[in-house]
Amino acid sequence: MKIIETVAEFRQEWANLKELESLSLGLVPTMGFLHEGHISLVKKSVSQNDVTAATIFVNPTQFGENEDFEDYPRDMKSDLDFLDCEGVDIVFVPSLEEMYPEGFETSINVGSIATRLEGKYRPGHFSGVATVVCKLLSICRPDRAYFGQKDAQQCAVIMALNRDLCLGSEIVVGETIRSSDGLALSSRNSYLSDSEREKALSLSSGLFAARKLWRSGENASDRLRSVVLNEILSGNSEVPVEIDYVSVADKNTFMEIDRIEEAGNAIILVAAKIGTTRLIDNVALV
Ligand code: PAF
Repeated sequence: MKIIETVAEFRQEWANLKELESLSLGLVPTMGFLHEGHISLVKKSVSQNDVTAATIFVNPTQFGENEDFEDYPRDMKSDLDFLDCEGVDIVFVPSLEEMYPEGFETSINVGSIATRLEGKYRPGHFSGVATVVCKLLSICRPDRAYFGQKDAQQCAVIMALNRDLCLGSEIVVGETIRSSDGLALSSRNSYLSDSEREKALSLSSGLFAARKLWRSGENASDRLRSVVLNEILSGNSEVPVEIDYVSVADKNTFMEIDRIEEAGNAIILVAAKIGTTRLIDNVALV
């Protein structure tokens, strides 16, 4: 596995590989502190492409002022071991200066989809994500790029970005990977104490209960939202919980839906702070 730190080196390496034969490239962009969710994307890429590259870059522009950029968990050695074991060919680990050299002022405005839900609670977040992903796709020019469904709105933003700016990659969305008790895997789960982790399970159990109710014939969104809210707010946990939103939304526009008329078009999303850790999760209504 080759570890590369600069754009020029990455381009040279990929040009050398491609020179010998026509090869497809899969890209798995990450912020590191890898878990099974990332690894499932890597496995998908390795199985679908001749060459797989992963990136590890904790992108400051997608963090708000009072968010956890400084504290975001990092473990480069273990990440590189993980990626090597999975058969990744190239890892791009740019420095801050490489990605945002002096004079860098460009940012991408992804439009209305980025103003809802996560965009509303994390102003500027999607602009930061879109800018860095656009840059990574432009540097690496992958045939396919892989993102996880846990960040459903991020996936929609990246698809819009890729379509609107003709970036030319296929965007592949991998399923949310959960631990056996249902908690969606996230690098931020490492912040949770035992009691907070216990409380965090109410996010997925609330979503599963709402999906079950929908499957039994309930299509009024407010009833489904209530199920999730009740699940999160019930119980005697000492752990403070702050819910940002429980949303039943169109899976492409992320606009609220009152009634779910058609299977496959809606998604239930939740964002909440469990203690001081902000978590998101979602389930598609299928
Ligand atoms: O999902 C993430 O880890 C990040 O938002 C991404 C896509 C790597 C951009 O920094």
